[in-house]
Amino acid sequence: MTRKAFFLHSYGCQMNKLDSELVASKLQQAGYRAAASEGEADVVLLNTCAVREHAEDRVWSRLGRLRQRKRRDPALVVGVLGCMAEEHQRTLQARMPHVDLVVGPSAFGDIDQKLEQVFQSARRRAGLELGESWRRGAGVVAAGHGVSGDVVHREVGVRPQRSQAYVSVMRGCNMPCTYCIVPATRGKEISRSIDDIVAETRRLCDDGVTEVTLLGQTVNAYGRDLGRGVTLARLLRALHEIDGLRRLAFITSHPNFLSAELIDALAELPKIARYLHLPAQSGSDAVLKTMRRGYTVARYLRRWEDLMARCPDVELHSDWIVGYPGETESDVDGTVALMERVRFAQSYVFKYSPRPGTVAAGLCDDVPDAVKAERNQRLLAVQERLTAERNLALVGSVQEVLVEGPSPRDPERLTGRTAHHRIVHFPAVGRDLVGQYVPVRIDAAAAHSLLGSRVVESVAR
Ligand code: 5AD
Ligand code: SF4
Repeated sequence: MTRKAFFLHSYGCQMNKLDSELVASKLQQAGYRAAASEGEADVVLLNTCAVREHAEDRVWSRLGRLRQRKRRDPALVVGVLGCMAEEHQRTLQARMPHVDLVVGPSAFGDIDQKLEQVFQSARRRAGLELGESWRRGAGVVAAGHGVSGDVVHREVGVRPQRSQAYVSVMRGCNMPCTYCIVPATRGKEISRSIDDIVAETRRLCDDGVTEVTLLGQTVNAYGRDLGRGVTLARLLRALHEIDGLRRLAFITSHPNFLSAELIDALAELPKIARYLHLPAQSGSDAVLKTMRRGYTVARYLRRWEDLMARCPDVELHSDWIVGYPGETESDVDGTVALMERVRFAQSYVFKYSPRPGTVAAGLCDDVPDAVKAERNQRLLAVQERLTAERNLALVGSVQEVLVEGPSPRDPERLTGRTAHHRIVHFPAVGRDLVGQYVPVRIDAAAAHSLLGSRVVESVAR
């Protein structure tokens, strides 16, 4: 029998990308093969994101196209995984009869068995000659409960980059942010044990990984459900011992858990990446309060000052939401002031989008879309200037670049990232430097990247 082929589309955050790798790993272990394109796949899976309406719209329209295809090819299996599976399970079951499988983000650990159930029920229906069987859809639903992805014995070879890998350290989120759907879709915080994480990271490093990024929605709250003093700082110290590991990053941090212990770890451990993703969301106390973020601007700044006192080379990245209900122009002025004070190295700016079931969805979404768009542009322009200033300051310096591959726009160049997560392009051809840490002198700064030339150490004769 020929092996069935699957094709997986991944939307949304890094956690979803990793979950997709784990799903692929599990399916390959169970005998499926990865299809080269969606067109030749027997199974099409969408690993979805529900954090903003825009992300969902892309999935709904892809599901519309898959409905057309399934009319022609009733044997095709369509699965919806991830946060939309959790959020919209009823709609998917009731109104999307071409969807065979609905599996939430906490329940894909036995995805191979669920898929087998879909095939079994299709065979039964074919035996009964029910005809038009594709109309029945959503044969298997496992949202909210089930076997967590963290039990998947990860096939370390299944990963897109040879030298880089994500490792999940915790799932879920216990924070009360009013706008966010994640606690509803991903559930309560569950941390993995330090031993499990170290074992997985060791296996990855034995297979050639040198840069690991730890993932969690509030990664620096890691361990609080485990007790016994387990913290991210302790985990970082344990991982730091692994020989093959050269760079260790972690995302996303919450300002309230930036502890003195974590700052000590950042100051003392040379392998830790020199950036922190520490979303502020807003620079207005009034907005932060209604968002229930649990800190004020002054408190955020105090944490940042404590960090700078010990680690002046660490840069901050942030997410910002514009157009949250009630946000005024002077609130946005506050956000600009915070951006300029901290001089963030990178910012993601999002227009507020009400999410069903969240506390904020009960408030009037009173900022018109055009105003949200204008505020979005305003913050992006500030960030662009800050990034340009920081990039310019690096011209003339030598940075250690982990080479990722050929530059997407120019095959004569290689591209990689510094310890600060900045993209650097430099002239060089061939693949022999991919995965290497190369010293690059920065010659010029572009808007979103740096341009440089490789420093070839002189060899003593
Ligand atoms: N609308 C807009 N942006 C949102 N985010 C989360 N929920 C929403 C929402 N309802 C943003 C936050 C978060 C990032 C991942 O997405 O900035 O940090
Ligand atoms: Fe959402 Fe807040 Fe949790 Fe981040 S910390 S995932 S914004 S609830």
